[in-house]
Amino acid sequence: MVEDCSIDIKLDHYIDLVDKNIFGHFIEHLGRCIYPGVWVGINSKVSDGNGFRRDTVDALKSIFAPVIRWPGGCFADYYHWSDGVGPRESRPRRLNVWWKGEESNEFGTDEFIQFCKVVGAEPYICVNVGSGSPEEALAWLEYCNLSGNTKYANMRASNGHIEPYNVKFWGVGNESWGCGGNFDPVYYAWEYRRFSTFLKRADPSIKLIACGHITRDWNFRFMEAMRDHIHLIDYLSIHYYFRNGQRYGDDVNFSDEQYFNLLYDIQHLEYLIQQAIYAIDFFSEGRKDIGLIVDEWGVWHPQATVETGLYQQNTLRDAILAASVLNLFTRYSNKIKMANIAQAQSVCLTEGNKTILTPTYHVFNMYKSHMNNYALKVECESPTVWSGEKESIVQRKLKPLKALDASASISQDKKILVLTVVNQSLDKDYSAKISNNRGVKFLEATLVTLNANNVRSYNDFESKDNVKTVEETFTVNSSSIEFTFKKHSVNRLTIKLE
Ligand code: AHR
Repeated sequence: MVEDCSIDIKLDHYIDLVDKNIFGHFIEHLGRCIYPGVWVGINSKVSDGNGFRRDTVDALKSIFAPVIRWPGGCFADYYHWSDGVGPRESRPRRLNVWWKGEESNEFGTDEFIQFCKVVGAEPYICVNVGSGSPEEALAWLEYCNLSGNTKYANMRASNGHIEPYNVKFWGVGNESWGCGGNFDPVYYAWEYRRFSTFLKRADPSIKLIACGHITRDWNFRFMEAMRDHIHLIDYLSIHYYFRNGQRYGDDVNFSDEQYFNLLYDIQHLEYLIQQAIYAIDFFSEGRKDIGLIVDEWGVWHPQATVETGLYQQNTLRDAILAASVLNLFTRYSNKIKMANIAQAQSVCLTEGNKTILTPTYHVFNMYKSHMNNYALKVECESPTVWSGEKESIVQRKLKPLKALDASASISQDKKILVLTVVNQSLDKDYSAKISNNRGVKFLEATLVTLNANNVRSYNDFESKDNVKTVEETFTVNSSSIEFTFKKHSVNRLTIKLE
């Protein structure tokens, strides 16, 4: 069944540049993520020759992974970077406190930086605040970024890396309100001031990321305690996991209601983004333009436990969620400057020597077309597909879920329009008239659609293309065009403008 919808793109309403880093990634020493998802060792059959898993490198390269956050996560606040440099055979094995088992330290700073280089991504390092010290963090910065005749710069050179790495993004602790040390926000602000004072002084070119929270209380109390030291913060970060087995079901087994609950709750994430922005703006009072980073986000299904190494399947539903969340981030391009999906396992899954590209991988591959474009305002009208509950999980009334969710951007030369549209309906195709408010002619359009027969479909090691993309090109020559978006699909339109 087909119903009418409309999508009007405001060609003269620029939101901001879409920072390519909102399509970023996160790797942590947990489960199969690093070993063997990223690092397999030089002698492995599936190595790229540097010791990195070739399939993972290829996947991240092909989606233009712009930035990778490492080493955690909770792991970061127990990680001592000096364990992971120097000859691999003499690196100490340590307990992995958060994710169990032992850490071999085979994949350390030099490997991480080289991995980022091979992939073409910018490195983002999270320093240990919880069990570390400013001195340790400063030594790590010196190892990475300084070029003089100093102890740690020389250590890097003697490990074979003469040129400094110039790591720009540094996180000061991870979830310091929880696994990072269970600090309170004011105490964390004091620690943040200590760490950031020395880090910024040693290398003023770096960008520092403070640990925020999804509770308004933490962000307000932290920002208030930082009020007179606002120059030390470049970004405030929050994490958001869709994690509620009862409400969302399992990774592959979920009811229609659970499917809709998941998408409906994206509004909750939006609300938390707005609250974090409010805290930033209120306390920085226009004195500094502090950005928001969502440096961990994703779906955390009940199957992903410490025991399973956080392994979970990724269905078309997860891809639809990722697409709608990336639409949301794109619409907030004026404030959200980076986001890192947790973890690289959400774009490619590994088992022994086998690898599969997940449905979420395809979303990142499609959405890379927004990178570095200008985000545009879009008015998207479509029928309600889920009316939600009277009271949401946050005891606030949320809006009913509409069938179509969209975001748009325009290339810097203003010649190409990119429109990403998610049809969140489970049973209806929707036809939409796509227009622009300036009457500019659309010359040619290419539609890429990600879909499968069933929203519970996923790619597995035996059949890798259950969820895949198809592409069609159309000549238009008009300032509007009608497209039909199939039920439970993710779509990217690239439109050449006159
Ligand atoms: O991604 C798994 C964990 O989730 C991270 O280590 C932590 O930061 C978050 O709670």
